[in-house]
Amino acid sequence: MLTPEDHALLAATGPKTPMGAYLRHFWLPALLSRELPERDGTPVRVRLLSEDLIAFRNTSGDVGLMREFCAHRGASLYFARYAECAVRCWYHGWKYELDGTCTDMPNEPPTSTFKDKITQQAYPCVERNGVIWTYMGPRASRPPLPDLEWLTVPEDNTYTSKRIQQCHWTQGMEGDLDSSHLGFLHQEAIGRTVEHATYESARWMLEDSNPKIELVDTDGGMLIGSRRQADGKSYYWRINQWFAPWYTTIPAFTGDGPLAGHAWIPIDDETTWVFAFSYHPTRALTEGELVHMRGGSAIHSELIPGTFAPVHNKSNGYAAGAPDAKQPWMRIQNFQDQDVAITESMGPLYDRTQEHLGSTDNAIIQSRRRIINGAKALMNGQAPRANARDFSLRPVSVKLDRDIVKWSEAVAEPMEARPETFMASV
Ligand code: FES
Ligand SMILES: [Fe+2]
Repeated sequence: MLTPEDHALLAATGPKTPMGAYLRHFWLPALLSRELPERDGTPVRVRLLSEDLIAFRNTSGDVGLMREFCAHRGASLYFARYAECAVRCWYHGWKYELDGTCTDMPNEPPTSTFKDKITQQAYPCVERNGVIWTYMGPRASRPPLPDLEWLTVPEDNTYTSKRIQQCHWTQGMEGDLDSSHLGFLHQEAIGRTVEHATYESARWMLEDSNPKIELVDTDGGMLIGSRRQADGKSYYWRINQWFAPWYTTIPAFTGDGPLAGHAWIPIDDETTWVFAFSYHPTRALTEGELVHMRGGSAIHSELIPGTFAPVHNKSNGYAAGAPDAKQPWMRIQNFQDQDVAITESMGPLYDRTQEHLGSTDNAIIQSRRRIINGAKALMNGQAPRANARDFSLRPVSVKLDRDIVKWSEAVAEPMEARPETFMASV
């Protein structure tokens, strides 16, 4: 459990909070490229880290992200005129460039130099593989864009979606750090899969409900190795990564399937953008895989059209199975919906002073410690330093001999995100 002080520190994401300041030292996915299809088209309101922002694509195709409310008297720039590579507030015509500099103030006398003193808060953006990335921290400590493998492979090898989750970002993320819930929360869902599965790993996952979870610290986060009984001479290992502060990875369930993961980006202290990414290191995703993903499957949710709200949500009981069934596992049948239902069921911001964490919660304890310590170090003047290569690992699913003790060394090579290499999952 956390102390009341650490709980409060972990919870707050706003710009004037210690955790908010720490989180702003990392690049983050802000929105999907497909949300801004046109140059000088309709802008998009986007809330990130408790800040209301406006995103737009300018006349030359570059993306801008700035504070929603005009530096003059706060009119929303949602209603601005977007032209000539700039944003002109509809109210009095103040004009802002992509970097927030104010270059025209037509309601002031022509001799006025007032505009030189005004800057609209703006954040740099980079587009990569269908996602618009931003950095909201101080310019001097801006790290390189992370070398996450889903950003470095060809765009055809990837698919990214996003959805809203109604709870604190760590509450959702911690589900990905906790392999031991698979055999419980997803028991029936995995069971249904096993009936049709041609692979053994689903059975191993179901049969061993008490996996041993071992952590190995890395420069950018940690490896989470979950060991289950396989056959007499081997263990089944699923190895995921957590990259500070908000990325998780998920190995394929079997064979040549795509790898996956999430970015858990705070909208504010009680709501989260969940970016879900699927990618294959060495091949384009097939049409069949894409149809499956777009329709909402595995980690991608089916959304209410025109929104990022999942079709199955709290208001309808997350029901996708037999809506009248008594047991929740009959009503809520999709993997993804089960994770959302259970992490939202804790409320928007669960009081972490009330928990009792056990041995399989070790990755949760460790990730919290790392980001809380990071925020505290920043308060003492030590800014986090993220190297691009820290993120360059991929998740794996393997069978290893029981006598292999150093599993992280045994999987070091297949785990390295090297172009044109890929080891199929067991
Ligand atoms: S409020 Fe934007 S120009 Fe006046
Ligand atoms: Fe889950």
